[in-house]
Amino acid sequence: MAKDFDSMEDSNWSANLSIHEVSDPARRSVLRLGFGAAAATLFAPWLAGCASSAIGPPRLGFAAVPPSAADALAVPKGYVAEVIARWGEPVGIAGAMPAWREDASNSAAEQALQMGMHHDGMQFYALQGSSTHGLLAMNHEYSDDGLLHPDGMKTWNADKVKKAQAAHGLAVIEVRLEGDRWSVQRPSRYARRVTMDTPFAIGGPAAGHALMRTAADPQARRVLGTLNNCASGRTPWGTYLSGEENWAGYFAGGDGAPADQRRWGVGKGNWYRWHDHDERFDARKHPNEFHRFGWVVELDPNDPTSTPVKRTALGRAAHEGAWVAVTRDGRAVVYSGEDARFEYIYKFVSRDRIAPGGAKPNATLLDHGTLYVARFDADGSGRWLPLVHGQGPLTPANGFADQGEVVIKTRQAADLLGATKMDRPEWMAIDERTRQVYCTLTNNSRRGNPGQPGVDAANPRTNNTMGQIIRWTDDGDFDGVSMRWDHLVLAGDPELPRAEAQGNIKGDLFACPDGLAFDPAGRLWICTDVGPTALNKGEMVRMGNNQMLACDLANGEVRRFLTGPVNCEITGPAFTPDGRTLFLNIQHPGETPSERSDPEQPRRYSNWPDFSPTGRPRSATVVIRKLDGGVIGT
Ligand code: FEO
Ligand code: CA
Ligand code: CA
Ligand code: CA
Repeated sequence: MAKDFDSMEDSNWSANLSIHEVSDPARRSVLRLGFGAAAATLFAPWLAGCASSAIGPPRLGFAAVPPSAADALAVPKGYVAEVIARWGEPVGIAGAMPAWREDASNSAAEQALQMGMHHDGMQFYALQGSSTHGLLAMNHEYSDDGLLHPDGMKTWNADKVKKAQAAHGLAVIEVRLEGDRWSVQRPSRYARRVTMDTPFAIGGPAAGHALMRTAADPQARRVLGTLNNCASGRTPWGTYLSGEENWAGYFAGGDGAPADQRRWGVGKGNWYRWHDHDERFDARKHPNEFHRFGWVVELDPNDPTSTPVKRTALGRAAHEGAWVAVTRDGRAVVYSGEDARFEYIYKFVSRDRIAPGGAKPNATLLDHGTLYVARFDADGSGRWLPLVHGQGPLTPANGFADQGEVVIKTRQAADLLGATKMDRPEWMAIDERTRQVYCTLTNNSRRGNPGQPGVDAANPRTNNTMGQIIRWTDDGDFDGVSMRWDHLVLAGDPELPRAEAQGNIKGDLFACPDGLAFDPAGRLWICTDVGPTALNKGEMVRMGNNQMLACDLANGEVRRFLTGPVNCEITGPAFTPDGRTLFLNIQHPGETPSERSDPEQPRRYSNWPDFSPTGRPRSATVVIRKLDGGVIGT
């Protein structure tokens, strides 16, 4: 998505220097013991603290796959990958399962009942603790209107806008392993699509705020839809967190857009063209609608009737996603970042402890707490700077009337606090054993350009085409206001002539880390997202198509586990609790350099996974297992 979102990925002109299942329904019985009694058991991985770093994760046991430029998915010998949920398949709502039509002639109403486009972040929710039966909740990040409609955008009308909006959002599907095959269960009482028509509640300091009020929602309590949802996280109480990422690009702002909108990179709206037929995406006419996106949203996948919520206490940003840690005394700490050049990393510390009993008793947990933004100092220390109204510069004199305005203008508040401008923070992953937080910084080709911020210790390379993975440990506990940080790895290729592209990888080459997740045994999995104009050429010529790799944190070795089809991105890694199944999303196979396909030749770059002579490439969920049923990565 980089190319067409340049304005959003590069809109910071401020002057700064540059646990799962704690109260998951599957474990409620444990929590009935009461919080104190349960804590020692439930938080054992966290309580183990740094002592566990000596344990180290298990070593990698698979044979690396070679780089590949083929239009195919490759996994190591002894593994099998199967496609289970393609764009356009019905999610499985009883009595409402329209079949996919490969000529893209499904209607908007049908698309709203089918898997959306461009599967991205994903999480697995075990049913009754099972590793063979559960729910997958996932994001459908954006639409490629060149593939979505038979003639692409050659004609444009309200129905096409409706279909594009229905291709966005979230999906919940029920999956089950029977014999040696996983499949989507249809119909399923859990099956759900969330689209731009789905009502969301608003929680936290921006709920009801004057800057959130619109003609359609004068009380600022209800927003229709979520969009450009990228990465995902899961809460210890069994819900799904999703980040609204490049939402600003859906709004038309025009040349005279106010500074607030320009700080967020509002565009002309010409990419999606929703504002042609849906006026609320014209920020000139509905400036407050612009404030109603950019939030982390929370969904309870176990309750298809539940109303998802925009959690404004976590700040408004181009959120990649959100990841939850638990303090020793049982509060939630939500880490997040925004994937944009020179933007920031945040964390939110809940005021209250996680309550036993799953989603309902924690329905407002993420509405009360303290939001911070990170400053990474040159000596390897860092500070979490509070984004609290009335503290420091966050006063009415500087344009912040109240905490609601602080969270609505999170970027501007972070600018004033002197937060560190990062190289596009993507996914995070929390090592529950060492209490370290890892974050991919995917790339930043403008680092050090004339007029742009130069290098700093955390973002140490000019023209950073390769990206790096940073990690930190907060002092004391996850709620600590100071930290120690270092880099796990700088991506690159040691044979390149440009010193700043060489990196320090121990093992297989990769660039542009994006997806990131720990498996249940503590291996760190890295997914890459090199754009189609860079893949397999220039500095990336030895790296092949986008890939997934595993890192053994005991010795730093990185080993290539999987390669994807042409011009796809690998994302969404989610493991079953037993570590024997890996769900993965293959996003935008065949993505064109313009990032919008030509409807005259939809198979120009890829025809994965159907390889139908009259079809089109489709983002899809794949399921990966070992042929012997063993643990992935061993
Ligand atoms: Fe949607 Fe930052 O990737
Ligand atoms: Ca993506
Ligand atoms: Ca991403
Ligand atoms: Ca990316």
